[in-house]
Amino acid sequence: MSYVYCFTTNILSQTTMSKVIFITGISSGFGKHTASLLAERGHKVYGTCRKEIDHDPKIHVLYMDVTDVQAVEKGINTVIEKEGRIDVVINNAGTVVGGAVEITPYDDIRLQMDTNFMGPLNVIRAALPHLRKQNAGTIINISSMNGLLVTPFVGFYCASKFALEGMCQSLRMELKPFNIKVIMVNPGDFKTNNTASRRITHTYNGIDAYESQSKKTISVIEKDETGGWAPDILARKICKIVESKNPCNRYVIGSFEQKLAVVLSYILPGSWFAKIMEDHYGIKG
Ligand SMILES: NC(=O)c1ccc[n+]([C@@H]2O[C@H](COP(=O)([O-])OP(=O)(O)OC[C@H]3O[C@@H](n4cnc5c(N)ncnc54)[C@H](OP(=O)(O)O)[C@@H]3O)[C@@H](O)[C@H]2O)c1
Repeated sequence: MSYVYCFTTNILSQTTMSKVIFITGISSGFGKHTASLLAERGHKVYGTCRKEIDHDPKIHVLYMDVTDVQAVEKGINTVIEKEGRIDVVINNAGTVVGGAVEITPYDDIRLQMDTNFMGPLNVIRAALPHLRKQNAGTIINISSMNGLLVTPFVGFYCASKFALEGMCQSLRMELKPFNIKVIMVNPGDFKTNNTASRRITHTYNGIDAYESQSKKTISVIEKDETGGWAPDILARKICKIVESKNPCNRYVIGSFEQKLAVVLSYILPGSWFAKIMEDHYGIKG
């Protein structure tokens, strides 16, 4: 079985041109699996992380925080100095802040927007002068289904991904004359560190009005995530996108029910769709 897999991988590696890829957040989850798979397939992978990690020796590791503009510029410039080009930028690094909108601390809101919106923006702005000069390039943004529909008690996570969506849809049109593609990937629920590393506020400054509902809803979210697909499934999809000659603008990746939810959010009257979501997350009126 593994022989068949290696054989197929080698054949594909020989037929697909090796690309120079910059991907953020390779310490765990989607980033870790995607970086390894891309490197295994013969691409030159520059993966970023914030701390020392055990990594695939084929990956070139760069240390940077996506919220640090200068560190991001340094990371991108390092790749240009070594390779002379960047073919694909993958904005993967992200985090989740949970809790009711009224009581989520401002520091957590800033962390959410700085990481999930400003982070990809910093990477895109550092990479674009080089991609424009090349008159070629692909920017892949790992958004979320929460960039298309909302879930209660992760309002700022949804806001960060909706902001990313808005900015990138505008960017896609601006970059058309420069032959640079902007692709959105919207994963559903996957089993990664995302769940354990989430910052959650159930009560704050003596306000406990949301505590019971917040705990109930977050436990549904966590159950969906921990019962979700393994991250290597998404990694394989991202590899296909990277190697595709003619990729789509958007890939929604998840179970049939999750994809159906996205479709229903567009076609059902708003109040009907809200009722489905409220029932799923145990919200009573
Ligand atoms: N898992 C899901 O169900 C799901 C669904 C939809 C979308 N997503 C999105 O997928 C992306 C990857 O998440 P994941 O599920 O693979 O979670 P994960 O396992 O927690 O990985 C997140 C990665 O982002 C890095 N990161 C976080 N903040 C950073 C910062 N300020 N600067 C640089 N790196 C930073 C983390 O590095 P450290 O180790 O240093 O923290 C880690 O490598 C995120 O954008 C997330 O929103 C996930």
